[in-house]
Amino acid sequence: MSNSERKRNPSNTIHKQLIIGAGFVGLGMAQALKEGGIAYDQVDASDDLGGNWHHGVYETAHIISSRKVTEFSCFPMPESYPDFPSRENMRDYIHSFAEHFDLRSHVELNRQVVRVLPVEDNLWQVSFDNGEERLYKGVVMCNGHHWCKRFPEFEGKFDGEIIHSKDYKKPQQLQNKKVLVIGGGNSACDIASEAARVGSKCTLSMRDSVWFIPKTFMGIPVADLGKKGKTPAWYQRLMTYILIRLTFGQHETYGMPKPKHRIYDRHPTINNEVPYYIKHGRIIYKPGVHRLDGKSVEFTDGSRDEFDLIVCATGYYVAYPFLPPELQRVKGSVVQCYGDSFLDDYKGLAYIGWYQPRSGIGSVLGAFAPIFARYLKLQDEINIPLGLVLKEIGKKPRQTHLIDPNDIYQEVEQAERNFDKIAQQASQIDAKYPNFHNQPLAKSNNI
Ligand SMILES: Cc1cc2nc3c(=O)[nH]c(=O)nc-3n(C[C@H](O)[C@H](O)[C@H](O)COP(=O)(O)OP(=O)(O)OC[C@H]3O[C@@H](n4cnc5c(N)ncnc54)[C@H](O)[C@@H]3O)c2cc1C
Ligand SMILES: NC(=O)c1ccc[n+]([C@@H]2O[C@H](COP(=O)([O-])OP(=O)(O)OC[C@H]3O[C@@H](n4cnc5c(N)ncnc54)[C@H](OP(=O)(O)O)[C@@H]3O)[C@@H](O)[C@H]2O)c1
Repeated sequence: MSNSERKRNPSNTIHKQLIIGAGFVGLGMAQALKEGGIAYDQVDASDDLGGNWHHGVYETAHIISSRKVTEFSCFPMPESYPDFPSRENMRDYIHSFAEHFDLRSHVELNRQVVRVLPVEDNLWQVSFDNGEERLYKGVVMCNGHHWCKRFPEFEGKFDGEIIHSKDYKKPQQLQNKKVLVIGGGNSACDIASEAARVGSKCTLSMRDSVWFIPKTFMGIPVADLGKKGKTPAWYQRLMTYILIRLTFGQHETYGMPKPKHRIYDRHPTINNEVPYYIKHGRIIYKPGVHRLDGKSVEFTDGSRDEFDLIVCATGYYVAYPFLPPELQRVKGSVVQCYGDSFLDDYKGLAYIGWYQPRSGIGSVLGAFAPIFARYLKLQDEINIPLGLVLKEIGKKPRQTHLIDPNDIYQEVEQAERNFDKIAQQASQIDAKYPNFHNQPLAKSNNI
C-alpha cells in the first residue's frame, strides 16, 4: 500500500468486502461471508438492524410467506411464532439472528453510502454521508428493493391527499376517510383491508384484476403446501387455480373480471381479506383510474367517486442511487448480471437480493448465500470478473425478476455439484484475458 493510498484509506479496508445494508438480506450475506472466512465490513444508513422490518413496513404488517419458508433453515424462528409472523416478530427474529451469529458488532449504523466508484488497482472507492472515503476490494450491495417509490401518472389533478404505500405506516392515517387504494399487489390489498376496517369508505382500483391466492388451505399456509423440487409451471398453475376456485370461487361473484394474465405471470397476491370485504360491501372494486378531477376520480368504466385520500400501492423501482450511471445495470426490474450478482466487465461489485422469488426471503437467501461466498473466494483466485466466467460458460442474465424459488434451489445445487469444474474453467478463461482491469470512471461521472 502506497503512502498516498494509506492516507486515503486509513482504516486499511482494501482486503475486505463492504456489505451495504443490514436488513434481512445484508445480515444473511454477512453470516455466509463470516462462515466462509471472508473479511468484511457492514454499514447501514438506519439506526438499527432489520431494514424494512425495523423501519420500512406499516406497523400492522404480517408476512404473507409463512414462517417456515421465511426463516433461515440454519436458524429457525421460535416455535411460539404464528404461521404468519408480525412485523415485530420479524424484527426480533432478525435481531436474534444477528446476536446468534455475532454479526451486530460488525455493523456500523447511521452510516449511509453515498457513492461507490471503481478506481485504480481494481479497488472500489466508497464515500459515506459523513464525508469519509474508504477503499474496498469488493462491494456487496444489499440495499433493499422496496423503498424507491413507483408513482402512477394520471390525467388531471387531485385536490385531496395522495401518498405512496411506502408512506402508509398506521391505520390512523386511514381513519374515517374515503380512501382509494390503487394497485393489485400485497400492499394494495393489505391497505385496502385496513381501510375497510377503519376508513369511512374504501375503493380498490386495479388496472388488471388479480388472482387472490388464499393464505391458508385447510389450515395450512399455502406457501408450505408446495414440495421442494422442480414442479412444472403448468402443474403449479393448475394446483393453485384449483385452490383458488375451492376457496373463493369465480371472480365474477365479486364483481371483478377474470385477470388477463396467467397465475404466476405476476408476483402473487396472497390475500383472503379483500374478497371477504368485497362480499361485505366494505371494499368496492373498480377498474383502472382514467382521470383525476378535484376530489373526484373517474375510472376506466366511466364511473366516478369522491375521495379524501389516494394510496398508490404501485410498487417500487430497483435502484442503486450510489452507483454511477455506467453501473446502473437495471433493465425494467432485472439487473443485467450473471449468477444473479456479478458483472462481466467489472469485478468486485455484487448486486444482491434484487429479484422477487415467490417464497419467503430466508429459504431463498439461505440457499444462495453460501454459494455466493464460494464464488467470492473463487474471484480472489482469478483476475477477470467472475461474471465474465459465468457468461462464457453459458449463463445469461435473467429474463424476469419473478422467480420460482425451485429454480434457485436447483441452480445452487448444480453450482455446488460442479464447483470444481467451474473453478477449472475459470482459470482457463482467465488465461484468455491477461490484461484485464476494472476501468476507473471519472469522479465527475457520478450521481
Ligand atoms: C409491506 C411489506 C411486506 C413484506 N412481506 C414479505 C413477506 O411476507 N415475506 C418476505 O419474504 N418478504 C416480504 N417483504 C419483502 C422485504 O423487503 C424482505 O422481507 C426483506 O426486508 C428484504 O431485505 P433487504 O435486506 O433486501 O432489504 P431491506 O429490508 O429494505 O434492507 C435494506 C437495508 O439497506 C439499508 N441501506 C439502503 N441504502 C443504503 C445506503 N446507501 N447506505 C447504507 N445503508 C443502506 C437500509 O437502511 C436497510 O436497512 C415485504 C416487504 C414489504 C414492503
Ligand atoms: N403482507 C405482506 O407480506 C406484504 C404486504 C405488502 C407487500 N409485500 C411484498 O412487498 C413487495 C412489494 O409489493 P407491492 O404490493 O408494494 O408492489 P407490487 O407487488 O409491485 O405491486 C404493485 C401493484 O401496482 C400496480 N401498478 C403499478 N403501476 C401502476 C400504475 N401506473 N397504475 C395502476 N396500477 C399500477 C401493479 O399492477 P400491474 O401488475 O398491472 O403492473 C401491481 O398490482 C412484494 O414482494 C410483496 O409481496 C408483502
